Amino acid sequence: MEEKLKKIQQDYLNRIGSSKTLKDLDEIFIGLFGKNGEVDTLSKQFKDIPKEELKTVGPLFNQIKQKLEKGIRVKREELREEIYQALENETLDTRSGEIKKRTGHIHPVTQFENEIIRLFNKLGFVRADAPQIDTDYNNFEVLNIPENHPARDLQDTLYISGKQQVTNDKLLLRTHTSNSQIRALSQNKPPIRLMNIGRCFRYENVDARHEHTFEQFEIVYVDKRVSMTHLQFLSEYFLKSVFGKDTKARLRPKYYPFVEPGTGVDSLCIFCKGKGCKVCGGIGWLEIGGAGMIHPQVLRNGGIDPDKYSGIAWGFGPERMVMLKYGIKDIRLFNSGDLEFLQKL
Ligand code: PHE
Repeated sequence: MEEKLKKIQQDYLNRIGSSKTLKDLDEIFIGLFGKNGEVDTLSKQFKDIPKEELKTVGPLFNQIKQKLEKGIRVKREELREEIYQALENETLDTRSGEIKKRTGHIHPVTQFENEIIRLFNKLGFVRADAPQIDTDYNNFEVLNIPENHPARDLQDTLYISGKQQVTNDKLLLRTHTSNSQIRALSQNKPPIRLMNIGRCFRYENVDARHEHTFEQFEIVYVDKRVSMTHLQFLSEYFLKSVFGKDTKARLRPKYYPFVEPGTGVDSLCIFCKGKGCKVCGGIGWLEIGGAGMIHPQVLRNGGIDPDKYSGIAWGFGPERMVMLKYGIKDIRLFNSGDLEFLQKL
């Protein structure tokens, strides 16, 4: 037994000596002192050893245990020291100037939106946002778009499960900022000058020109004798501020159920100045947004008498404007989180 113990001691001392990692040591420790480990197994054999022999084997056994335990402890300290040393050697000197700090900036679309908000603030418009999750009623019905109206086909809608608690109406992700109209009309008394900016969502086939998540900007202006002239003025004011003085705005008949008459808002092509080019498809004009005189029924829905007041609604997609302004070809870049793209703007 004595020989056996000495052999075990030597084997383990060798293993401890050649271990390279703390994990190796842990394994050795468990193999020795753990449940059913070497020490456990040996102790169980002691009952078969003659008493006389046990007198020397017992103390030797304890001695060896202590020696091995100490051996592991000392080796562990050594390995730790090596790790600390290695870490110290790896330390980066941040004062050497080799690491460039990357400064962030406001997202290009948000920068542009802040500019628009300033532009319309100057004309007395105040921000009044509407929720991104809204009822079918606020997004469609109240805007003359009942359930089976063909205009719904133009705005593929993402409905969400659950109903509005009080009205039990269907809930959806708003498809346009026009869901602000009914709130603007019913919660305020004319004169009303409000703007709404924010995210909208459609079930789109995503490609370079279409996103499922995008921004819209919209204003609602109601007063006595508000007319198409105001619409022309606001369009021109906006486009000249963004694209420069030699831009022009054009209103073109277009159908939206909640305005009458409804118009598309075009900008003189900023690239060819009306001559016709690849970007505008040879037309000389770029479609920017939609607008129109608020439909009398929508005014009535908001508690405003269409015989006394008239109003305009006017909206567009900020991403498209930013794309034109900076020559960006793919709308998907805006939400991509692509830092290289964002850093360039
Ligand atoms: N809400 C319309 C759309 O998203 C745009 C629009 C706004 C049209 C305001 C007229 C007036 O298609």
